Amino acid sequence: MTSTTITVRRARTSDVHRIRSLVAPLADERILVAKEAVAYYEGLQEFRIAEGPDGEVIGCGALHVMWEDLAEVRTLAADRRWRGHGVGHVLLEALLADAVEIGVQRVFCLTFEVDFFRRHGFEVMANQSAVDPEVYSELLRSHDEGVAEFLDLARVKPNTLGNTRMIRTL
Ligand SMILES: CC(C)(COP(=O)(O)OP(=O)(O)OC[C@H]1O[C@@H](n2cnc3c(N)ncnc32)[C@H](O)[C@@H]1OP(=O)(O)O)[C@@H](O)C(=O)NCCC(=O)NCCS
Repeated sequence: MTSTTITVRRARTSDVHRIRSLVAPLADERILVAKEAVAYYEGLQEFRIAEGPDGEVIGCGALHVMWEDLAEVRTLAADRRWRGHGVGHVLLEALLADAVEIGVQRVFCLTFEVDFFRRHGFEVMANQSAVDPEVYSELLRSHDEGVAEFLDLARVKPNTLGNTRMIRTL
């Protein structure tokens, strides 16, 4: 089981059930935030899927655009049986390539996996200065929970407790 047997592709509607089953145990542990099925269908085009050698879905991850130069890596999850075999790595590389293609220069993430993201060029955010006050006030208009987490709003603090805010410039 090495990364050479892992392929990454765009998500399909038929993957939503599996994405939810990857997220569910992590949501129980408060590592990821679970969403309603409709949210995964609506956000499907943000998702990449990792497939094992037999075509089984062994991981997922999404890139959510927040602003002209800013996106978030979210819902990055590797099947527990495949941890440490490069699933997270190939997914994150694909999502960062998507960011470049889309025209985003900075990628944010909120995570407990600080070492993993650091090894992929992310740095711990020292403060809120990733966006200027004008963009901050525009982002406040978003209804997206991840954007609220990025802004560190009080209403999402229970979701973000213990997580580290990290950013990478591409
Ligand atoms: C973060 C996460 C996706 C990483 O997935 P993963 O598939 O285990 O990640 P990788 O295998 O690419 O990397 C893990 C380790 O395996 C090692 N590794 C990578 N490729 C390897 C390979 N081909 N063979 C053996 N080991 C390998 C790496 O050295 C890496 O070490 P590091 O974590 O110290 O950097 C996974 O831990 C996870 O699902 N976490 C829960 C959800 C989460 O916190 N997501 C992040 C916030 S959205």
